[in-house]
Amino acid sequence: MASIIFHENTKTFHLYNQKISYIMCVLENGHLGQLYYGKKIHDKEDFSYLVEKCGRPMTSYIFEEDRTFSLEHIKQEYPVYGTTDYRHPAVEILQENGSRISDFQYESYEIRKGKHKLNGLPATYTESDEEAVTLSVKLYDTETKIRLTLFYTIFEEEAVIARSANFYNEGEKPVHLLAAMSMSLDLPDQDYIWMQLSGAWARERHIKNRPLEQGILAIDSLRGNSSHNHNPFMVLKRPGATEQDGEVIGFSLIYSGNFRIQAEVDTYDVTRITAGINPAGFDWKLESGDSFQTPEAIMVYSDHGLNDMSQTFHRLYRKRLARGYWRDRPRPILNNNWEATYFDFTEDRLVEIAKKAKECGVELFVLDDGWFGKRNNDHAGLGDWVENPERLPHGMKGLAEKIESLGMKFGLWFEPEMTNKDSDLYRAHPDWIIQTPNRSTSHGRYQYVLDFSRKEVVDYIYEMMYRILSGAKISYIKWDMNRSITECYSKALPADRQGEVFHRYILGVYDLYDRLTRAFPEVLFESCASGGGRFDPGILYYAPQGWTSDDSDAIERLKIQYGTSLCYPISSMGSHVSVIPNHQVFRNTPLHTRANVAYFGTFGYELDLNKLKEEEIREVKEEITFMKEYRDTLQFGTFYRLKSPFEGNETVWMSVSEDKKTAIVGWYRVLNGVNMPYTRVKLEGLDPDLLYENIQAHTEHYGDELMNLGLITTDVTSGEVPGDAKPCTDFESRIYLLKAREDRE
Ligand code: GLA
Repeated sequence: MASIIFHENTKTFHLYNQKISYIMCVLENGHLGQLYYGKKIHDKEDFSYLVEKCGRPMTSYIFEEDRTFSLEHIKQEYPVYGTTDYRHPAVEILQENGSRISDFQYESYEIRKGKHKLNGLPATYTESDEEAVTLSVKLYDTETKIRLTLFYTIFEEEAVIARSANFYNEGEKPVHLLAAMSMSLDLPDQDYIWMQLSGAWARERHIKNRPLEQGILAIDSLRGNSSHNHNPFMVLKRPGATEQDGEVIGFSLIYSGNFRIQAEVDTYDVTRITAGINPAGFDWKLESGDSFQTPEAIMVYSDHGLNDMSQTFHRLYRKRLARGYWRDRPRPILNNNWEATYFDFTEDRLVEIAKKAKECGVELFVLDDGWFGKRNNDHAGLGDWVENPERLPHGMKGLAEKIESLGMKFGLWFEPEMTNKDSDLYRAHPDWIIQTPNRSTSHGRYQYVLDFSRKEVVDYIYEMMYRILSGAKISYIKWDMNRSITECYSKALPADRQGEVFHRYILGVYDLYDRLTRAFPEVLFESCASGGGRFDPGILYYAPQGWTSDDSDAIERLKIQYGTSLCYPISSMGSHVSVIPNHQVFRNTPLHTRANVAYFGTFGYELDLNKLKEEEIREVKEEITFMKEYRDTLQFGTFYRLKSPFEGNETVWMSVSEDKKTAIVGWYRVLNGVNMPYTRVKLEGLDPDLLYENIQAHTEHYGDELMNLGLITTDVTSGEVPGDAKPCTDFESRIYLLKAREDRE
């Protein structure tokens, strides 16, 4: 039972459910203080002993005759800039007289069932009012006449708190928000390991760990997209915590633009976490009568380790962030032509690829880049979302009909936010790109970013996409975004609003997503940004799956998918089998290993199946049959990480069906060894009393046996190779299918 209690006498709020407690109170100076966040504890009227009041030399105090009350030593909920607290604030407001000081005093609160929508922004949601309770704490700054509302939603069944803030200018004068974070949280100690997901193009979301230390640790983006480099996600875990045990807190920001997640450990070992829009370069002019809503931040607590935290994120993001027709539907197995043809295709060639795909059991054929305008290479065409008649003589309609008549769905690539200088769009509207007057404008992949902070630009792109989508039967869209923003400036905004452009740009992206998903509710959207450059919860709200990385090599994908799974559900990870030698790392891996990795995702093929040998085609058909039979468990089951690719030569993960009767274990070994030890791995999440058949090995084991003594993963090449068994080599992998024996329960 989730509940929020307010103790009038002590002005203490206690948000709790079966798993967590979050306690705060109104402080003596009227600000909101943080008292406790962690495992559920009993409610009490008074926790004020946790407010640390003490006199220390070099401390500044709020009240004249009191040398104990300093914000420097008090844990807070939404600290302001420039008072007695010298740590980084959640809010900084530049006022007309040049002052940046604000003083938000508690006024009132409201507790409501369910959860409200955030205007224009992606956010978690409830389907009934019974699923969550929301507290709004209202604060007021008398000088600027700004009302600040802090939102806290606690979910009924999950160890989840969602936070955001809203500013409303009731005054006469405009102000500038220079920092408006989504959340701030002061934790009483610093005994944590900070985990982040960082990387670069083609090696996204690798796990990086560091112990917290006094000082500041942060990840952020200034690129306009959440980025390949740092994901808007961070975990604090206790040093002893593992996948299975121990205390961890995950922080995730539902936002796709410039973000910052920061831990500031002060010299008294208090840890302040802030998360929100990156204050660097941010300057939002809040006119009289206007309001500003921050993106939403999600906090997940677990005292059962990282797997439990990830599973909470997976459930929340799969069912209460992602939306629409495809949310709960198994994802179609697709064949994308990008690595098969790149820009070099004709309609006939596409149909040839699609025919073979159909023969193998593929359900969706996706035409990637190159079908529009003069897009024969990456120098031209972006922005001209009209079929190229030389490539598609029968138009989009004709091609879609051909694919549909084969018995497959048809999908299409777009890159809506971009243009090339060699395009009709640019020639007609050279002032529609993001560029700073009198400065040179940088390009990325020869392309320029359209100014999506302008409604007329978004409207124009919408109209073009609408025409294509309503003129042919298109069931899927891959929405790409292949460069970051530079020289950020909008011609449509005055000088004192240029600090808004990055955020307005993302609001424009969300707006286009919103309009298209509403106009075409049954179209499956897959996001992409040169692979995983915008793989974040903001986009997941609109597109329930994303192309995880441009790196399709199975071994590289182990780290990428393992890291991604810390926060994102398996059903959201685009994962395909591609050719060898692999186009990114030029590695040769066995076909079965490529499939065994891709099963733990949306699954598909990024190649021309006509080029495979007969025996490989037989294998592909078996893979597709397997995926169709088990994709419910693979995509929507409970996912456990068992062995990390960041820590050794072997990776193991598994998915367990909701009824626990089916489990699929993926085992992967990078390099082979000689005369190796016997190995076993302890499984998770099975029913201890069920007898499971190990389908390939024809052996039977109880759930408790597999979870405590483990599944034997030794293979024949550990010793001499018996009989005609095929020896293993490098990049070996295996899928273990475990099925409960109904007759022996
Ligand atoms: C990006 C994507 C690829 C492909 C190309 C097309 O790099 O990540 O999957 O769509 O663009 O240009």
